[in-house]
Amino acid sequence: MTAQLIDGVAIAAKVRGEVAQRVAERIAAGKSRPGLATVLVGEDPASQVYVSNKRKACAEAGIEAEPFAHKLPATATQAEVDDLVTRLNANPAVNGILVQLPLPKHLDEERVLSAIDVTKDVDGFHPLNIGRLAMKGRDPWFIPCTPAGCIRLLEETGVKFSGANAVVLGRSNIVGLPMAMLLQRRDCTVTICHSRTRDLPAVVRSADILIAAVGRPEMVRGDWVKPGAVVIDVGINRIADATRKSGSRLVGDVCFPEVVEVAGAVTPVPGGVGPMTIAMLLQNTLTAAERGES
Ligand code: GUN
Repeated sequence: MTAQLIDGVAIAAKVRGEVAQRVAERIAAGKSRPGLATVLVGEDPASQVYVSNKRKACAEAGIEAEPFAHKLPATATQAEVDDLVTRLNANPAVNGILVQLPLPKHLDEERVLSAIDVTKDVDGFHPLNIGRLAMKGRDPWFIPCTPAGCIRLLEETGVKFSGANAVVLGRSNIVGLPMAMLLQRRDCTVTICHSRTRDLPAVVRSADILIAAVGRPEMVRGDWVKPGAVVIDVGINRIADATRKSGSRLVGDVCFPEVVEVAGAVTPVPGGVGPMTIAMLLQNTLTAAERGES
């Protein structure tokens, strides 16, 4: 059997189209244009590309990002970053604030993320947002973008959540942890795996829904996967490939050629989860603007 391919490019385009339309309707109704502030500290090349892609996507959806694009040197002090966040919190034209991670080592990430107004925390990384996500009967203001994108991919695939065994590989604050909490809120039975998990292949084989977010190229093999399982590959790893002009190519945390023969549905890398992160950021920014009115 060959798995259904979950097309993240098409689903992200659909989300971005929905956001663009709702923004246009706001503007036509005389309401404000949603605004997203981005804060990039230092020169990390990957972070520069991510932030630039986020700003471009905002422009396409009619969200204002260029006037609020802040770049600080790698030597920026804690007080400088804190001051900037305080000013953005107070700016009514800014509905969402995104501080790109990782921050340079001398800065206190927790302090910066905690300083963001929770109602503008479109990344969903504020401890109050994560805490509310973890609690029964509470709702966060925002859900972190990559896990939210994974849930949307699963929904679009028609996955049944209630009672499903979900296995999450990885326990990062950005993906693994919120992902596990989201699946649990949808009544999955959730197992979180990490480097100390015993007999990882056997645990992974119990998954009806598998989320791989460990950053290890092609770690999940075909014989780890339950036939018919739905597999979401969050990994983006660059590996050497002498057959390519560039000398390298991108692979996920899942060995795609093997897993595609066993799974019921699987996301490719690239073109799976990647495009969803930005789409959900746009959606969160629009939500922030809409809430500001009510
Ligand atoms: N670094 C890696 N992923 C993310 C993300 O989704 N948001 C931010 N702000 N930083 C990141």
